[in-house]
Amino acid sequence: MTSLQIDHKHPYNFGAGPAKIPKVVLQKASEDLMNFRGTGLGIGELSHRSDEFLELLEEIRSNLRELMNIPKEYHILFCTGGATNQFSMIPMNFLGEKRTADFIINGIWSKKALEEAKKFGNAQCIASSADNGFRTIPKDFNFSEAPSYVYFNSNETIYGNQFQSEPISPFPLICDASSDILSREIDVSKYAMIFAGAQKNLGIAGVTLIIMHEQFFNSIRKEDIPFSLPTLQSYETYVKDNSLYNTPPVFCIYFLGEILHWIKTKGGVRSLESANREKADLIYKILDASSLYKPYVDKNARSMVNITFTLSSETLEKELLTAASQNGFLGIQGHRTVGGFRISLYNSITREETEALADFLKDFSNGR
Ligand SMILES: Cc1ncc(COP(=O)(O)O)c(C=O)c1O
Repeated sequence: MTSLQIDHKHPYNFGAGPAKIPKVVLQKASEDLMNFRGTGLGIGELSHRSDEFLELLEEIRSNLRELMNIPKEYHILFCTGGATNQFSMIPMNFLGEKRTADFIINGIWSKKALEEAKKFGNAQCIASSADNGFRTIPKDFNFSEAPSYVYFNSNETIYGNQFQSEPISPFPLICDASSDILSREIDVSKYAMIFAGAQKNLGIAGVTLIIMHEQFFNSIRKEDIPFSLPTLQSYETYVKDNSLYNTPPVFCIYFLGEILHWIKTKGGVRSLESANREKADLIYKILDASSLYKPYVDKNARSMVNITFTLSSETLEKELLTAASQNGFLGIQGHRTVGGFRISLYNSITREETEALADFLKDFSNGR
């Protein structure tokens, strides 16, 4: 067994989210909690109407545009209620009695979004990989005649499958990118809307980032919506009021800003993507080389950020989990609906941490 230098106060956190946060960001945040940018006020005490916060919002938008190459026609909004709130907010705004939405189902998160959408209008599954237990990415999309939007989840956090490129859709494309936003480059101009909860690659839970094309926003047809939308469930509120209709999650938004600064120090998204690919390769290589481990997802659909696998027996799985936790590797137990193991390699996970886990997995399998 490799001798690992574990500091148990700072274990290796491979959890799926809330996920590891870079220490420099945590340190900076702890300072800013006391005194934000020389104001003498902590970030949690600062008015969301203050010049400092308005400046911060603009700085965050500008950094997001730069890092993700977001064209100027896109609104950047900050909502609450987690990514889950978008599952209902999207159909509330974009469905209605006469409209249809198409869903591509690659696991639990898109299924939940579909079930929620059905409460508000005509929403249907146009492709699914449920038949093979979500080991692949769905293909052969049978689009409706003129759906308001086509919905997909780029990375299935629980099953560990990932679209290697966005589905080609002639209709407005909406993506739940909660678990892979900023982990790889994407062409934002191909999307009508992208949303992501913050607690994996964007900081801490409490804010949901929305990137929405203005043309898509303008396609909301109030006359089709059979009820008056609650104010905070209407995208119009966020667009009109600069995401400041009510008190936003100031600290979570600030934190997102600090993560963006950190990403810039790491060389931006392209550089993180290549590091992420290398990290994922390190782990998959160990899994593929050993008969002990059984990667869950088909090779061409594997996620770079959530690696799932099982072992041949429950006893062995228990042994691995115990050994992992004794060695400081935390958060690798699979989601309760799937079992087995899940290793999450978000941006904040270093190559050194990944190598330590790869060595551990190799040693564990060599001993058996
Ligand atoms: C892909 C995806 N979508 C949606 C969610 C739900 O996010 P939240 O808990 O912020 O509502 C998650 C949570 O892990 C997720 O991984």
